[in-house]
Amino acid sequence: MAQAQAATAGQTSVQEEYNYHVIRQFTVMTLVWGIVGMFVGVFIALELAYPELMYALTGSSEYLNFNRLRPVHTSGVIFAFGGSALFATSYYVVQRTCQARLFSDRLASFTFWGWQAIIVLSVISYVTGYTQSREYAEMPWPVDILIALVWVAYFAVFIGTIMKRRQPHIYVANWFYMAFIVATALLHIFNNLQVPVAWNSMESYSVFAGVQDAMTQWWYGHNAVGFYLTAAFLGMMYYFVPKQAGRPVYSYRLSIIHFWALIFLYMWAGPHHLHWTSLPDWVSTLGATFSIMLLMPSWGGMINGIMTLSGAWEKLRTDPLIKFMVVALSFYGMSTFEGPMMALQNVNALSHYTDWTIGHVHSGALGWVGMITFGSLYHLVPRLWNTELYSVRLANVHFWLATLGVLFYIVAMWISGILQGLMWRAFDDYGNLVYTFAESVEAMHPFYAMRAFGGILYLAGMILLTYNCYKTIAQAKAAQPAAARA
Ligand code: HEM
Ligand code: HEM
Repeated sequence: MAQAQAATAGQTSVQEEYNYHVIRQFTVMTLVWGIVGMFVGVFIALELAYPELMYALTGSSEYLNFNRLRPVHTSGVIFAFGGSALFATSYYVVQRTCQARLFSDRLASFTFWGWQAIIVLSVISYVTGYTQSREYAEMPWPVDILIALVWVAYFAVFIGTIMKRRQPHIYVANWFYMAFIVATALLHIFNNLQVPVAWNSMESYSVFAGVQDAMTQWWYGHNAVGFYLTAAFLGMMYYFVPKQAGRPVYSYRLSIIHFWALIFLYMWAGPHHLHWTSLPDWVSTLGATFSIMLLMPSWGGMINGIMTLSGAWEKLRTDPLIKFMVVALSFYGMSTFEGPMMALQNVNALSHYTDWTIGHVHSGALGWVGMITFGSLYHLVPRLWNTELYSVRLANVHFWLATLGVLFYIVAMWISGILQGLMWRAFDDYGNLVYTFAESVEAMHPFYAMRAFGGILYLAGMILLTYNCYKTIAQAKAAQPAAARA
């Protein structure tokens, strides 16, 4: 009892010093949205693998068809799951490393409720058929305005906390988070310059046209990968990997060099999404060149992370958190090797429009983004609720489910992607296509089933993580004296 009271007293002082409330809210929603987003991923994977069965199940409802659910999945995993995880960890990291409470509790709370409202409104608009038809920016214009407001508040909270820091130094993780916040604001605003059809209509037109419009969209799309799915999660990596390994960052100098190189190079690589279109050749070549250069700063980050863990190899046998982090860094290295290769025009001629791209996406998304988030959440949740993790064994089971899930997913997509590409470009001696499109679709079936199986494993791991966190929180609450709970 005395121990529990001492723990509660310690927790109360930390609570007063830092704003943990909003971090806990975002953490819980990360788990909720993770399950929802990945469940929808599995659902649409099954629609592709077993269309007749799913058609029978959904009663051909327009709300549940692949077209409407796909953006629910992408926004669900990127903005709802990934976004909530980034809000939670950035608020934690900035407070701990600056030794300062968040700049404004009220604004922080606004970012929480605002972000959740954005997600719910986006999902409603997609399933009811409202979309801007810009990938990863499908939200209609009123939601775009709300995003801009929430993002300005996020920027104010983050920079305000850095300005009132009690540490002279700004730790490198904050640099990455800051770059993500600033770049996302820039990308969001320019890609969503739209003219509404009427003030009471959800429809709008882009101010750009033709190839400029496509360029703006993929400048946005690629940098959403670069700043949102990469820089921000590198910020997460730079705090949680050294913490969990109990070692300092391997090379602080390398972290700064690869930070600036990454920020500079990513901005130019967008045209690799538009190879072999009406884009001018020189723009295409520019995109490919910058993509190749991107390998270096990307690997700079991977090497720095792996080398930070290198003094803690013995923990790899026993600590599932370190396992998540090593695998995350390995997938980061792998997908940032694959990406530059796919950016070469001749490789892209084969890979574009095929499942190879989907495989690449998910080796980054499931392997890097997902795994580093899981490792960080296992570290964060017990600290936020001032307790121990409920079950290390379950975390180990989660690790294997997730790792096998990614492998099934990406191996299936590599095979089906290359097969698709080769079937589509096969000609006979008379110059006729050897295969019809329908034949290529038929050939995909076993791989789509395999991908769905991998997705089910990954989702099962996500559910296990949520259960483990739920029990961890419940055990923390049970340990609190009744007075503290009241
Ligand atoms: C050096 C780093 C990287 C480079 C140069 C790169 C390059 C590429 C290329 C060439 C494509 C295919 C474009 C197409 O044919 O349509 C692509 C697609 C994609 N990549 Fe990467 N990639 C990199 C890292 C990553 C990482 C780490 C992630 C995820 C965390 C990621 C997520 C994506 C996504 C989501 C797409 C699909 C975009 C779409 O068409 O919807 N990439 N990337
Ligand atoms: C249970 C896990 C998951 C499953 C089963 C799954 C399944 C799918 C499916 C079936 C698609 C559509 C592919 C197509 O159009 O042919 C898709 C697209 C996508 N998913 Fe997932 N997904 C999962 C997790 C994730 C996660 C965690 C992320 C990001 C953090 C993610 C990001 C994306 C993106 C960016 C796309 C669009 C790719 C593109 O347009 O090139 N997915 N996913």
